[in-house]
Amino acid sequence: MRIILSIAAFVCGIYAWAASVPVIPQPVSVTEGVGYFNFDDATTFVVENAQQLKIAEMFADKFGETSGFVPAIKTSGDGNVVFITDASLPAEGYKLDVATDKIRIAAADNAGFFYALQTLRQLLPAAFDSGIAQDGAMKWQVPVMKVEDQPRFGFRSLMIDVARYFLPKSELLKVIDVAAMLKINKLHLHLVDDTGWRIEIKRYPKLMQVGAWRMHRDEPFPARPNQRPGEEPNEGGYYTQDDIREIVAFAGERQIEVIPEIEMPAHTSSSLAAYPEFACPSVDKPITVLPGGGGVNTQFIYCAGNDSVYTFIQNVLDEVMALFPSEYIHIGGDEAVKTYWAKCPRCKARMEAENISSLEDLQGYFMARISDYVRSKGKKPIAWDELTNHKLPDDIIIYGWRGLGEAASKAAAQGHKFVMTPARVLYFIRYQGPQWFEPYTYFGNITLKDVYEYEPEQSSWKPEYAQLLMGIQASMWTEFCRTPGDVYHQLFPRLLAASEVAWCPKGDRDWQGFLQRADVQLPRLQAMGINHARSMFNIDHKLTPADGKVQVEMSCIRPDVEIRYSTDGTEPTAKSKLYEKPFELKKQAVVKAATFSGGKREGEVLVLDVAFNKATGCETQSNVANDYVLTNGLRGSDRHSDFEWAGWYGKDGSFVIDLGRRTSIKKVTVGCINNSSMGVHIPSELKLSVSDDNKSFKTVGTKTNTHEEVFRTRTAIEDAVFDTNTKGRYLKVEFTNPGKCPVGDFKEGQDVWIYFDEVIVE
Ligand code: ACM
Ligand code: ZN
Repeated sequence: MRIILSIAAFVCGIYAWAASVPVIPQPVSVTEGVGYFNFDDATTFVVENAQQLKIAEMFADKFGETSGFVPAIKTSGDGNVVFITDASLPAEGYKLDVATDKIRIAAADNAGFFYALQTLRQLLPAAFDSGIAQDGAMKWQVPVMKVEDQPRFGFRSLMIDVARYFLPKSELLKVIDVAAMLKINKLHLHLVDDTGWRIEIKRYPKLMQVGAWRMHRDEPFPARPNQRPGEEPNEGGYYTQDDIREIVAFAGERQIEVIPEIEMPAHTSSSLAAYPEFACPSVDKPITVLPGGGGVNTQFIYCAGNDSVYTFIQNVLDEVMALFPSEYIHIGGDEAVKTYWAKCPRCKARMEAENISSLEDLQGYFMARISDYVRSKGKKPIAWDELTNHKLPDDIIIYGWRGLGEAASKAAAQGHKFVMTPARVLYFIRYQGPQWFEPYTYFGNITLKDVYEYEPEQSSWKPEYAQLLMGIQASMWTEFCRTPGDVYHQLFPRLLAASEVAWCPKGDRDWQGFLQRADVQLPRLQAMGINHARSMFNIDHKLTPADGKVQVEMSCIRPDVEIRYSTDGTEPTAKSKLYEKPFELKKQAVVKAATFSGGKREGEVLVLDVAFNKATGCETQSNVANDYVLTNGLRGSDRHSDFEWAGWYGKDGSFVIDLGRRTSIKKVTVGCINNSSMGVHIPSELKLSVSDDNKSFKTVGTKTNTHEEVFRTRTAIEDAVFDTNTKGRYLKVEFTNPGKCPVGDFKEGQDVWIYFDEVIVE
């Protein structure tokens, strides 16, 4: 397959044979014809009413910016781009009939007409979206074809977290424009979190004066210290009510409904810093807007026993509901740690008065009270899936983010509608490719392919749950973003894949075809000043020990590129050896590899510096699956999530390396890592022992780390070195977990991860 494609790529150039109707999301049905329709100064649109006129105008005006002509728009008579209402078509669907002299667009609603134009937009040159005047030679043409199209889901959402990173309004509008082009029809704005309050509420000015501002910190999000006494917050901002109206109107013109989220009862340090009287009286520390992860300060939440808290939230929601015409209001509800509720006399009194027996049910009471208020105003409440931990408020819609729909299906079992945004597939905060090439962020990897292949309907669901599934949401959490470009890097191209999951019929996936269409559309984003990741061109590696040798396996999620590599440390070129299958290294080597297509390098150069020692290539015995990394000759990076580290959580552990035969062991280095902000620490004790029979072991070294050494605030690889001067076949490493993270630590009270990347035996 790869070879056939490479020959094709060589002959035609990779982009030349991209689909001739390279639209994302892929239309349900396309019949290609012959020839082109040309837009020019004689092109005339004919629309039926004022709303269609507005839709056509937005499209026609873009020609004005780039081509020098603006197609005319009429509301009667004849023309060559004709809008025809056809009430028999499905909501948001459209029929597009492009001939060389005429384009007929049929739809039942405004969204359908708008989406037909988005399909045409994607078939025009990328320069159409540049806003820059082009020279007269540019052909503004679209291919002759017939398209019939309609969405799978009516709820196709993008969430932007503007609380962690305050995305400037001008950039948010750009995101909205791209989302609309991808036929996404909801924008969920996460307006409130511990890290900032981002919406003007006139009745509570301190939300803007205090809640919108935090300390700037240079550290990555989890490692940012909380505000210290005497510090003046210096980073932040908020959208004014005029800004919100502008955002809502801009989105509305593009068929996007903006859904505001006001978080409660947790993720509320920003409003509590402004109005600390809304916290439980059991909170005995200053409340500040959190620059980062916040540690135990995230446990400061709204008091459930204080009626003025509900009044405050209702007043806030009154202003919010007046600004957002959306039928939905998201009221948060996630990750509420109830430390202070448990100690609060008011919360206790509330539980007694309302006959509530658990803190979870107290949250149920809290959410139901606000949810009922939202419903009383004619709006539909939405909340995160933690609400399935207690009795669900009436009619609430659940956003499933944990697992792959277990919690959401709990809601469905009770007849509630839900939206799927599983963290492990649709949280675009995560790495999107081999981590060594990515900006620093959290957790594991979600590649473009992972997103593209996501099927929201789970086989474990009862059939009737599918009827309650409203759609999906790509969630862009912005903990690690500091610029709009950082947001774009995480969003694109993954949002293109999510748009297909949301729009295209179930099961209708074509990874190679999608890539070809993405290759055509990504330059359009660039023309709009929006950067995107090229992670899909980078190489994943897996090095495994194999009888004293190391097997090198490389892969790229793009099937249409070649991997070429060297093993002598030289830069890979289009003429370097073609990688076709895993190969073995018998001795030290520096493997350098990159992807190529059409003779051009596409991805970053992967460098695998494989060092051999007496343990390299030997088998490891342990209770973790990826213990092979300990003897694969490759060190991990200072990111313990880079798949070169083997981890043990919250308990003591051990592993044994079989050196194959009795071996002289003079020195042993065990690679450990400390990432204090993520609860990763070195062991409090390491013990090394040797054996000839893997049964009776003799201790040959111990290393003890003090409490201060274990819990140092830093991210660093910290090797434990043992001078052993012994012999044996089996080498055992036993380690002691230091217990819970101490008071004042980023992860105070949480269990500790211990990770090792390599054992070096000399
Ligand atoms: C969430 O990720 N806490 C909704
Ligand atoms: Zn309380």
